[in-house]
Amino acid sequence: MDVRVLDTPGDVARAAADAFEAVVRCTPEALLGLATGSTPLALYDELARRHASEGLYFARAQGVLLDEYVGLPAGHPERYRNVILREFADRVGMPAANVHSPEVDAVDLAAACEAYEDEIDRLGPVALQVLGLGSDGHIAFNMPGSLAGSRTRRTALTEQTVQDNARFFDGDADRVPREAVTQGLATILRSEGIVLLVTGHRKAEALDALLSGPATEAMPATVLRTHAGTTVLVDRAAAGLSA
Ligand code: F6R
Repeated sequence: MDVRVLDTPGDVARAAADAFEAVVRCTPEALLGLATGSTPLALYDELARRHASEGLYFARAQGVLLDEYVGLPAGHPERYRNVILREFADRVGMPAANVHSPEVDAVDLAAACEAYEDEIDRLGPVALQVLGLGSDGHIAFNMPGSLAGSRTRRTALTEQTVQDNARFFDGDADRVPREAVTQGLATILRSEGIVLLVTGHRKAEALDALLSGPATEAMPATVLRTHAGTTVLVDRAAAGLSA
C-alpha cells in the first residue's frame, strides 16, 4: 500500500480525482468502482467540476456499486443506486444504464449476489475502485469478521454502522436498514487499482489499526495490504496530526 498524507479533505478529493481522470482519459470505457457514504462526495464534486469545466467525459465509462441496502423502496433517496446517480453519474454524463448495482429486490437474493459477481467479472476488471473506511475498519459492508476470500453476499450491518449511518436518515437509527448486499473482500481485491479515502478525526483510530495493527479479520480493511495497487489518501485529521 502506498500511503499519502495530504493537508485537507479537499486535497484528498483532488488527488483521488487525478487518479480517476488518468484512468478515464486513457481508457474512456473503463469500469469504475463507486462507493457511497460521506467521504467520496468531495471526489464526486471535483469530478463534476472537471466534467463541467475541463471536458472530462464519462459517457462511455461504466460504474459498479460496492454495496446496496436491502429493504429500501426503489425510489428511496438513500438507496445507494439513487445516491450514485444523483451525486456522480448524472453530474458527469454517465448514462444510468452504465451504472450497475445488485438486484436487492430479487426473491432469490443469493442468486442475485452470484449474478452480480458474474456481472462484475463480465464487465471488469474494475480499473479503479474508490473506498471509504468504516469507523470499525469495514470496507464496503464487509464488517469485522469478514473473510479475505468473501464474495458478493447478503450481510447484516453492525450496530456501530447503523448508528454511523443514521445521519443519512434524519438521525433516526430505526430507519436505517439492518441488511445490505455487499461486494466481498475478494471481489474488491480483483480491482486493478484501489484508492482508499480516509478523512476526519473520526477515522483516526481505524486508520491507525489499518496501518499499524495486526492484519486480522477483525479489521477487514487490512486485506488491502495484500493489494499492491492500493493507494491510501489521508488528511491530517485522520492521520492524527493537527489540522
Ligand atoms: C459505502 C460503503 C461504506 C463506507 C464507510 C465509510 O458504499 O461501502 O463502507 O465507505 O461506511 O462511510 P463514510 O464515508 O460515510 O464515513
